[in-house]
Amino acid sequence: MLEIGFGGGEHLVGQAQAHPDARFIGVEPFMNGVASCLRHIEESGVTNIRLHMGDARDVIARLPDASLDLIYILFPDPWPKARHHKRRLIQPEFLDELARVLKRGAEVRFATDWANYAEWTLWHCTRDARFAWLAERADDWRAPWPGHATTRYEAKKLGDCAPVWLRFARS
Ligand SMILES: C[S@@+](CC[C@H](N)C(=O)[O-])C[C@H]1O[C@@H](n2cnc3c(N)ncnc32)[C@H](O)[C@@H]1O
Repeated sequence: MLEIGFGGGEHLVGQAQAHPDARFIGVEPFMNGVASCLRHIEESGVTNIRLHMGDARDVIARLPDASLDLIYILFPDPWPKARHHKRRLIQPEFLDELARVLKRGAEVRFATDWANYAEWTLWHCTRDARFAWLAERADDWRAPWPGHATTRYEAKKLGDCAPVWLRFARS
């Protein structure tokens, strides 16, 4: 499992505690976030997390094909201004790399509270035949998936809409 941009690491450590038999990689370039995550790891005693301080794209580039079961991208930097959209993490080239490292049937779980980023991600993923949007009813994108624990950024409610929860399967 991979969490991209884990912030303070609360979600990552919570998942590692909930799934002791799974192995997690967390990537975050922000030093204070990594320090916070290390504290949570130490306090919880979990041993199934490895961290990288830096850009998730560098980690993904080094992962073997079909090596991940699940990727979390929770409340990524929204870059709401149109002229900054190219800075968003979700880009066609990035989806190429996600598709490469995910196993068949593996999931990407994405959340944002910026309406335009939700639309952007849906547009990019639904036109890409390698990803299948798993929503069957409105609650599937209006409510978090089972087992979700609120993240620090989510709790701040800084976006322009309620959180949108998107699950995609690698087909
Ligand atoms: C808005 S914060 C959300 C943090 C956390 N997921 C949460 O929900 O509380 C976005 C995070 O993504 C991190 N980030 C930005 N670009 C990244 C990249 N290329 N690779 C990994 N993390 C990145 C930022 O440092 C920041 O901590």
